Amino acid sequence: MEKLVIKGGHPLRGTLAISASKNAALSLMAAAVLPQGVTHLARIPKLRDITTFSHVLRITGAAVTRKDTGLQIDATRVGFPEAPYELVKKMRASFYMLGALLGRCGRARVSLPGGCAWGPRPVNLHLEGLAALGAQIDLEEGYVVAQTPRGGVSGGSYRLEPSSVGATINLLLAASLGRGGTRIENAAIEPDVVVFCEMLSAMGARLAGIGTRTIEIEGVQELKAINFSNCPDRIELGTFMIAAAIAGVPGQPVRLTHAHPDHLGEQFIAAFKETGAGCAIADNEVIVTPPESINPVSIETAIYPGFPTDLQAQWTVLLACANGKATVTDQVYGDRFNHIPELARLGLRANVVGNQVTVYGGSQLSGARVMSTDLRASVSLVLAGMIAQGTTHVGRIYHLDRGYEHLEKKLSQCGIDIRREQYDEFAAPQQN
Ligand code: UD1
Repeated sequence: MEKLVIKGGHPLRGTLAISASKNAALSLMAAAVLPQGVTHLARIPKLRDITTFSHVLRITGAAVTRKDTGLQIDATRVGFPEAPYELVKKMRASFYMLGALLGRCGRARVSLPGGCAWGPRPVNLHLEGLAALGAQIDLEEGYVVAQTPRGGVSGGSYRLEPSSVGATINLLLAASLGRGGTRIENAAIEPDVVVFCEMLSAMGARLAGIGTRTIEIEGVQELKAINFSNCPDRIELGTFMIAAAIAGVPGQPVRLTHAHPDHLGEQFIAAFKETGAGCAIADNEVIVTPPESINPVSIETAIYPGFPTDLQAQWTVLLACANGKATVTDQVYGDRFNHIPELARLGLRANVVGNQVTVYGGSQLSGARVMSTDLRASVSLVLAGMIAQGTTHVGRIYHLDRGYEHLEKKLSQCGIDIRREQYDEFAAPQQN
């Protein structure tokens, strides 16, 4: 297995370039299954989740090839409408194949994703929504078997409650090649969904209401394969803003380039400015000036443009450096706190009650061996390692490799002492 070894106390300086969005890339790859032709997606990050999803696509008959920083997806031969458990359990977004294959083939057999590292993540809206559009849905041996008796969903109306990124995408994938009109109410307006809708439109889908809570789509007989460019990763941007605020030199700006700051949402930016950090926003970059002292700012996660749940673990580390007490409340995933016991091994003073963690800032963290439990939890451990005294070993970084491209390379170019090492998790402890 691999781990990251971080010697804390080296300041972050200079410029960091933001990679392309992982989450948006996955939905764009699913859309590429719909047309009979070759889609070129520019700016697809080199990440484990992209590799996993490429395998999912290949199983259906698509040819997926990396071309420089993008992907070429030839969906001409898609004909085996299945996504197996072995891959879906590794990455939940593989469930997008349900909508994509229903759209393309009129039937699909896709494994249910099962549990998630931080608790239940239901797919009821995906299933109820597709049924409302006329798909026949059965559950067989852990698989969802979906069919549309006359080829393509008939269409209909469905209200998502709560609003869901994944369910919005799945319903649009199926409806775009449906036989009638579909109306999705309380649709997700996350930037990733907007970019996905823009790709569908460019492919010839008849969509109205992109970026609003009500999306209407009129099914068409076929979509065309196109060239499309992905957007920057908003969660990586937020992560590096936090990194700059806590590990930069007070008063010395850190530049984050190739970004799309609008995609972060108002609430994150507002909370970030309240911490006292300088935050100058231009079209494609953010310049963060680390403050002398960090104000304790409580946050609550919410759907876009609320504070992203994917940034709450990192915010907890920022609060560890603050001059007082504050809370992090997760309204989207109420159990998402697996990182807290690991951060406690580094000296974080915090306690979790229900969906809220109270963080007592101001005590110096110190290095230790800790373990990644999920993607965002693992990057919070890296952030903590950067400001801890001594050396931190972050194990099981296969979680981190799902979503942060070249993390240790980027950080070490900016002065952080971080390296990747092999280790044997089951080796006996060394005796002195
Ligand atoms: C996406 C992101 C993930 C992020 C999450 C919330 C991708 C690949 N993943 O996940 O990184 O953390 O949005 O911003 O883009 N829900 C139901 N029933 C359902 C579906 C969802 O109750 O059938 C609930 C969830 O439990 C959650 C809320 O809806 O409370 C939002 O989840 P959703 O937007 O669906 O998240 P994902 O698309 O899975």
